[in-house]
Parts: sequence; structure tokens; C-alpha cells
Amino acid sequence: MKLVLALVAAFTTATLSSGALAGAAEDIISKEKCSKCHTDKTTKKGPSWASVAEKYKGDAGAEAKLVEMLKTGGKDDHNIVKASDADLKAIVQIVLSSK
Ligand code: HEC
Repeated sequence: MKLVLALVAAFTTATLSSGALAGAAEDIISKEKCSKCHTDKTTKKGPSWASVAEKYKGDAGAEAKLVEMLKTGGKDDHNIVKASDADLKAIVQIVLSSK
């Protein structure tokens, strides 16, 4: 399992920019039930991904901020997501690319 994780991490680093990892990130999004509170377009308990993307548009630090928020719960006590930094980044990229 460790080896698999290491391979996944290496793969992630190599392919993140191409979006090939979206699969793993999407698995986490569905496993963590983000969709109970978020969807692409409609506001449920949480803001829609599209509105989050809009809010952070042009903010170069957005990815780091949101990764940190998902890791720690942030100031609003958000659900903490246990995933590797690479996966969290991929999740955040999905959120920030929603329209
Ligand atoms: C129980 C409901 C709930 C679940 C489950 C949930 N969220 Fe949220 N989320 C919220 C609420 C409410 C907010 C708005 C307040 C806040 O920022 O905490 C939010 C805000 C956010 C934001 C925007 C933060 C900002 O600074 O604008 C992101 C990104 C986000 N969630 C991602 C996720 C991801 C990814 C998951 C799944 C791994 C997830 N959320 C699961 C309720 C939820």
C-alpha cells in the first residue's frame, strides 16, 4: 500500500497540470460527500463551486488558501478532508475550474 501511495504521489506530481488526476480527486469528493452541501451550480448548505471559483478569480493564492482550509477546517469550521496535499490540490482545482 505504501508503494502504491508513493507511486500515486509521483504520478500526481507528473500529471497534475494535465488534469489526469481528476479521477482520484473526484473519488474523494464523492466519498467525502461534498455534494451533500455543494454542487457545481446551486447553493445548498455551502456555496456552489462556481460561486467559489468566481470569488477567488484572479487570486493567485486561492489554491493554497483552499487546500489549507480543507486540511484544517479554516475559520468557519469546515469539514476537514483527510487526503494528500496532491489530492487536495486536485480537488481545489476542480472547484476553482467550475463554472
Ligand atoms: C456539511 C456541509 C458541507 C460539506 C459536507 C462540505 N462543505 Fe464545503 N462548505 C460548507 C459551507 C457551509 C461553506 C461556507 C462556509 C465556509 O467557508 O466554511 C463551505 C465552503 C467551502 C469552500 C469555499 C471556502 C471559501 O473560502 O469560500 C470550499 C472550497 C469547500 N467548501 C469545499 C468543500 C469540499 C471539497 C468538500 C468535500 C470534501 C466540502 N466542501 C464538503 C459546507 C460543507
